Amino acid sequence: MDKLIIEGGRPLRGEVKISGSKNAALPIMAATLLTDEPCTISHVPRLRDITTMIKLLRSLGKKVEMNEDRVEIASKGALHHVADYSLVSTMRGSFCVLGPLLAKLGKAEVSFPGGCVIGVRPVDLHIKGLEDLGAKTRIENGYVIATAKHLKGAHLYLGGAFGSSVLATANVLMAAVLAEGETIIESAACEPEVENLCRFLEAMGAKIEGVGSHRLVITGVKRLRGVRFRVIADRIEAGTYILMAAATKSDIALRDAPYAHLMALTDKLNQAGVELTCKNNLLKVKTKDRLKPVGVTTHPYPGFPTDLQAQFMALMALVPGVSVITERIYPDRFMHIAELNRMGANIRREGANAIVEGVKELYGAPVMASDLRASAALVVAGLAAKGRTEIHRIYHLERGYENLEGKLLALGARIRREKE
Ligand code: EPU
Repeated sequence: MDKLIIEGGRPLRGEVKISGSKNAALPIMAATLLTDEPCTISHVPRLRDITTMIKLLRSLGKKVEMNEDRVEIASKGALHHVADYSLVSTMRGSFCVLGPLLAKLGKAEVSFPGGCVIGVRPVDLHIKGLEDLGAKTRIENGYVIATAKHLKGAHLYLGGAFGSSVLATANVLMAAVLAEGETIIESAACEPEVENLCRFLEAMGAKIEGVGSHRLVITGVKRLRGVRFRVIADRIEAGTYILMAAATKSDIALRDAPYAHLMALTDKLNQAGVELTCKNNLLKVKTKDRLKPVGVTTHPYPGFPTDLQAQFMALMALVPGVSVITERIYPDRFMHIAELNRMGANIRREGANAIVEGVKELYGAPVMASDLRASAALVVAGLAAKGRTEIHRIYHLERGYENLEGKLLALGARIRREKE
């Protein structure tokens, strides 16, 4: 296993290009199961999670090739209906083959998903939504087994205790596009990644109204066609680089960042004293010498994204004063607190809140990556900290940040990878 070594305390400079969105690309790739015709998806980031999805689609009977940022997916005979534990357990995104397999084959067996260690992550909404469309489901040996001779449109509600669900919306939507008649999904997730999936399905011939809203109205069609499609840019990757710049008091520019998808973050950063402007696809970040503490509460889109909570906390750890960070999507997503405190931060958890008392400086230390975004928070902290930070278990970072070291090196960071 590799570790990352960062010699921190240096400002970043220059320009970084933002990659395609992992969380948009994964369900879009799964949606290609809905057609027998070939699809070409571009602007796909080269990441471990994408490789896992490629392996999963191959195991289900698709022919898949990836060249640079382009994934070509074609049929080569009948599909299999079983998504194996070995692939689904490593990444939650793979659970969204359930809806398309069920719609296309009338049956699907998909292992319970895995993913980051960020608390309990149930799949009850996925199952409920598919049952509302007429599927019969049961759980056997760690697999969700769903069957449906005939999916039938329904008026259904997908809100859960923590609001809407991104992947449950994706699963039910992908089943509904081939169901008979009209489906209305109330409390659908409206994250840009779900909107992007809707656009992909529309390009394939699906009929969807209310795209980008909490109410999707889908009129089922008999078949979908193959398409060429470009994935949106990754708002979480972009947000992470913005926070890296803010934490190191740097001025950098992001090429192709999805500015409109980042408003919840940019608004908070403006309050803190980070200036963000976007013109001609270039988002410029300018950081004042003294920032103000600002609290955030995570919410479904367009609220502050849970996937930037850890990185934002790493920034606030360095802003003198008190800020409160509240996690409303995954109340246990706080693994990074202990690691940030190891670097000299002063953060304590009280239930779903983190009380951050900003310090003047963080110090490099050996730290352990626990999940994808917690690892990114350690990179933010490591870049700003005095001295050497060693981040262990960096395979989490490889799941979500394309060419992280290369991009940071180009921004002038001192970062390198070493064998453990
Ligand atoms: N939930 C339920 N029941 C369900 C599904 C979800 O109660 O059946 C709850 C979850 O436990 C959570 C809330 O609903 O409290 C929202 O979870 P959601 O289902 O929206 O999460 P997800 O679809 O499994 C995606 C992203 C996550 C991101 C969340 C929230 C992908 C592959 N994953 O997960 O991304 O945190 O939406 O925006 O799209 C990451 O990239 O690091 C990551 C974890």
